[in-house]
Amino acid sequence: MIDIARPRGGDRRRRFGGRGGLVIGAVVVLAMGSAAVAAPAGAAGTPGTPGTPGTPGTPGTPGTPGAGSTLAAAAALSGRYFGAAVAAGHLAEPAYVDTLNREFGSVTPENEMKWDAVEPARDTFRFTRADEITDHALARGMKIRGHTLVWHPGLPGWLVGLSGTELRNAVNNHITKVMGHWRGRIHSWDVVNEAFQDGDSGARRNTIFQNRLGEGYIEEAFRTARAADPDARLCYNDYNIEDPDAAKTRAVYDMVRDFKERGVPIDCVGLQSHFGGYFPVPAGFRRNIEMFAALGVDVQITELDVEGSGATQAAAYREVVGACVAVPRCTGITVWGIPDHYSWRSSSTPLLFDRDYKKKQAYHAVLKALRAAPRP
Ligand code: G3I
Repeated sequence: MIDIARPRGGDRRRRFGGRGGLVIGAVVVLAMGSAAVAAPAGAAGTPGTPGTPGTPGTPGTPGTPGAGSTLAAAAALSGRYFGAAVAAGHLAEPAYVDTLNREFGSVTPENEMKWDAVEPARDTFRFTRADEITDHALARGMKIRGHTLVWHPGLPGWLVGLSGTELRNAVNNHITKVMGHWRGRIHSWDVVNEAFQDGDSGARRNTIFQNRLGEGYIEEAFRTARAADPDARLCYNDYNIEDPDAAKTRAVYDMVRDFKERGVPIDCVGLQSHFGGYFPVPAGFRRNIEMFAALGVDVQITELDVEGSGATQAAAYREVVGACVAVPRCTGITVWGIPDHYSWRSSSTPLLFDRDYKKKQAYHAVLKALRAAPRP
């Protein structure tokens, strides 16, 4: 689970509040942007289909009236996507869906694709809830971020008891079957999530994958993923890797560099970007993006939220978006939810819309920063 916002220096660990504990919440993402992933023929997302940017009259297509008038449209002006994370449970709420469809063009299911949700029993898969989100997105020509295949929290009991070859086969089967279900329709997958420890060691996190499969489990996961869906961008995703000088960031950087040097298939690094009082946007945030991009991978801001409110919160959002759009290989931004009250850390009001779906100061700062992006 996530222990970010560790105050600078020392181990002053700080856990987020929120509804009843460390992590709660529900999240949604929608993708517009020209679907970089082949959508079913004729579906929205196919060039020329209404609702697909680049189709005359579609918001976000330069020259279209209102171009840049929503987050997704403004991001599309510089060839980027802008998304949020969604929970299927909110798709029946009109205000939620209206905001989702109007403002966002990239989707990440917050919990519906996680291991315990899709494979509750060994080799028994359940995709119904995740399909509610992906069907919604695909029907509107939106991109989809898959989240996440190999991550230590929330693992089903049947998996935790495995080790050695049994565990290895279960991991490879999970990756193959889950990616296979959406093959050709996912823009990016968070193949491995949060595999490095917090703090100054730069060490791998002690998970059942690391401890029972050894150092090579991450590489094998990426190789298995490439075979499962050659169309998807394969990402390593983590938090507290936004500061280029942090030990954890250096450890991830060294792994990505090694993978690229040895031809291990990796296409992107996801900077989760959960910021707040104790963990402000690092001064070197843009340099960090440039550093990873120089390795030959895309950078995606994957779970952006900033605790706080008003002008301070808006300034932090502006800083993040400004850093991303300044680097061509920073290809898209996802905020980790839509209205504040559905955030995993709702008490910190970290998102762009308030509980009445009113645009906050942070929203306007983000829209302005997206519009100011250098055009490709
Ligand atoms: O669906 C059950 C519900 O039936 C039950 O009544 C309720 C109370 O126990 O729990 C509900 O499931 C919760 C789920 O969110 C949906 O609300 C889980 O307990 C809870 O652990 C889960 O938390 C999610 C957390 O990841 C752990 O998976 C958060 O919503 C989600 O925002 C958070 O997101 C993570 C990213 O995946 C990875 N990066 C960090 C980020 C924040 O922790």
